[in-house]
Amino acid sequence: MTTLPVVELEQARIRLGGRIILDDITLTIHEGEFIAILGPNGAGKSTLLKTLLGLIKADAGSIRILGRTPHRGNKDIGYAPQHRTLEADLALRARDVVGFGLDGNHWGIGLPSRKRTALIDKALHEVNALDLANAPVGQLSGGEQQRLLIAQALLTNPRLLLLDEPLANLDISREGEIVSLIARVCHDRNVAVMLVTHDINPLLPVVDRVLYMANGHSAIGRADEVVTSQTLSQLYGSPIEVVQALNRLFVVGAET
Ligand SMILES: Nc1ncnc2c1ncn2[C@@H]1O[C@H](COP(=O)(O)OP(=O)(O)O)[C@@H](O)[C@H]1O
Ligand SMILES: [Mg+2]
Repeated sequence: MTTLPVVELEQARIRLGGRIILDDITLTIHEGEFIAILGPNGAGKSTLLKTLLGLIKADAGSIRILGRTPHRGNKDIGYAPQHRTLEADLALRARDVVGFGLDGNHWGIGLPSRKRTALIDKALHEVNALDLANAPVGQLSGGEQQRLLIAQALLTNPRLLLLDEPLANLDISREGEIVSLIARVCHDRNVAVMLVTHDINPLLPVVDRVLYMANGHSAIGRADEVVTSQTLSQLYGSPIEVVQALNRLFVVGAET
């Protein structure tokens, strides 16, 4: 059986404001794959996701999403942006926030309200947040808000889930909950997941491959191939030490 790759980058180059953010990146991601994206601040992790969303055009090479050129409003992609906090939406109920997932790309316009409610309830159930449906989002914890953002991203039944730092600002136990939730969604829906994170450790048990970006370059492979002193030193062009202690990996010398 052959299935269309979800994401294909071939010698792609991304340039922003005259600067090359990412050069010569080639990779293929298949359905049901869980990919963690790592790299220092400013490496271009968010930019890569925005390119897949069709918000930024590749400067060279080719990018395909399910065989097609990236385009805005692609309902095959669910996206939870970085730094999305729901403070501005304090008065909204959780179910309203999840419902934005239908409106963002105009897919939900004209949907009968019963159908709409059913879709929202289904997504809330999938992230264990049905009991929060009518809660004002401003009263919810960081982990609860993150679950709503994942539900929102799932509403159009995407084949690719782009999650930009969903673990930021969560304590360790909430972090573990969100990671298990995303791993379950990835497995149950056979959806490809690309998740940006600063710390690979909570993801080591569930992730298939790691995409590491630095200095415009990238490396992709299994965590034990990529998160090594040798690969990262080569990528950064300076000495990096990956240290294993207490069952965790520490990357030393990476952030300048
Ligand atoms: N619209 C833009 N125009 C020019 N440069 C930008 C723009 N957006 C981001 N950048 C720059 O591109 C680089 C990559 O940014 P970003 O993708 O946000 O990095 P990351 O998510 O890895 O921290 C940064 O140096 C950032 O300052
Ligand atoms: Mg970012």
